[in-house]
Amino acid sequence: MEINQEKELLLAAKQALKNAYCPYSGFAVGAALRTRSGRIFMGCNVENASYGATLCAEQCAISKAVSEGEREFTAIAVVSAAGKWTPPCGICRQVLLEWMPEGQVVLEKEGEPVCYLVRDLLPAAFSQDNLSEE
Ligand code: THU
Repeated sequence: MEINQEKELLLAAKQALKNAYCPYSGFAVGAALRTRSGRIFMGCNVENASYGATLCAEQCAISKAVSEGEREFTAIAVVSAAGKWTPPCGICRQVLLEWMPEGQVVLEKEGEPVCYLVRDLLPAAFSQDNLSEE
């Protein structure tokens, strides 16, 4: 991915975190998901008084896109209002693997984009391959 595309996606993620609903943790997270067709879907964390019902920003963005008929994704950027490097949590890594196994995760470290392959973030993962009998 070009550096400008990485920066564009990070910018959209920063926009998205403005809508974060995080009264419990105070930790606002934003995500921006790029589809193969070039659309960008934004997501933020949506917390709940029953903490386990919280939706992460990445899952929010993916759910929005899938519910709009999108199926193929190339990259997702994740940022937090804390301004610190914000790697996706374990559950989000599993969700990202489901939807974009060949995709990239764009994070920001010291003001610069840093990219990872989704598959590198979840080695020896459980996936749909493990569900088949052969
Ligand atoms: N959070 C995300 O939105 N994405 C992640 O990958 C890490 C954690 C949110 C969940 C919760 O609302 C807050 O950050 C603190 O864990």
